Amino acid sequence: MQKLYLPQLAVIDQIVDETADTKTFTMHFDNPHYNAEFRYLSGQFVEASVLGVGEAPFGFCSNPNRTGTFAVTVRAIGRVTRAMHAMHPGDLLGIRAPLGNHFPLQEVQGYDILFVAGGIGLPPLRSLIEPMLDMREKFGRFTILYGARTPADRVYKTRLEEWAQRKDLTLLQTVDVPDETWNGPVGVVTTLFERTHIDPAATVAFTCGPPVMIRFVIQDLLAMGFPEDHIISTLERYMKCGVGKCGHCAIGHKYICVDGPVFSWRQIKKLPER
Ligand SMILES: Cc1cc2nc3c(=O)[nH]c(=O)nc-3n(C[C@H](O)[C@H](O)[C@H](O)COP(=O)(O)OP(=O)(O)OC[C@H]3O[C@@H](n4cnc5c(N)ncnc54)[C@H](O)[C@@H]3O)c2cc1C
Ligand code: FES
Repeated sequence: MQKLYLPQLAVIDQIVDETADTKTFTMHFDNPHYNAEFRYLSGQFVEASVLGVGEAPFGFCSNPNRTGTFAVTVRAIGRVTRAMHAMHPGDLLGIRAPLGNHFPLQEVQGYDILFVAGGIGLPPLRSLIEPMLDMREKFGRFTILYGARTPADRVYKTRLEEWAQRKDLTLLQTVDVPDETWNGPVGVVTTLFERTHIDPAATVAFTCGPPVMIRFVIQDLLAMGFPEDHIISTLERYMKCGVGKCGHCAIGHKYICVDGPVFSWRQIKKLPER
């Protein structure tokens, strides 16, 4: 039974530097029975606490099919995230998980799949991309569009190279500011749409990234003719309890921590502020 109110101790196995301010933490629960039973779904998130500092939410970035460990990718911006960046393998975190709803996976079988990610928006989408690639034959055309500020600001550079080698998916990347290593496209992620073949009626799009990017992506997808419930995104909100009790994450009648963070555009457009 997974306890959502009580943090469970998790041991950090590995910390990978992704960019100058972003690291990926792979961990497992210290209690072997809890660890063996622990399951989560793509799109769900954890509340991670650094003992004596505080707690903060992070989306799973790992493949839910790979049990035994799980991972989050964290950008250092404040108290909890900076304290996490100062940690080492073997250190302990408190983890409450799995929280929130999840991306539709079974429901989108048979469709072409389009991912549009910006910067640190790729981690939660990676937790969906990888289980989808585990059953690649269940989907049609598979396209990943990724935009970052600079080449160095891209997360998962090794994994991006692996995806780029695959014949059964299309990965296109762009940066706002190129450097001498970059010979790919330059510009915002929406400029990649014209380089891809997309059939809006047959495609489900998943997008995650900075709010301004998501706004332009959704605007373009709607203009292309995507049905409103074929555009899936995640919403971020200040959170405390993560389990629908404190009201901190409310937008209108929705609690982002339990009704979300995954929503279709049909649902988002009904919210009072978006
Ligand atoms: C469902 C969900 C999933 C998330 N997934 C990830 C993830 O995978 N990786 C990741 O790096 N971050 C993620 N975040 C954001 C992450 O939770 C915040 O960066 C973190 O809470 C900051 O904590 P802190 O103590 O380091 O910062 P604080 O010291 O609390 O704040 C530092 C600064 O950041 C601002 N800030 C803090 N939290 C938020 C927020 N939620 N929205 C807007 N501004 C904020 C504060 O106003 C302040 O200016 C997610 C947030 C949510 C709600
Ligand atoms: S964070 Fe408490 S209700 Fe959502």
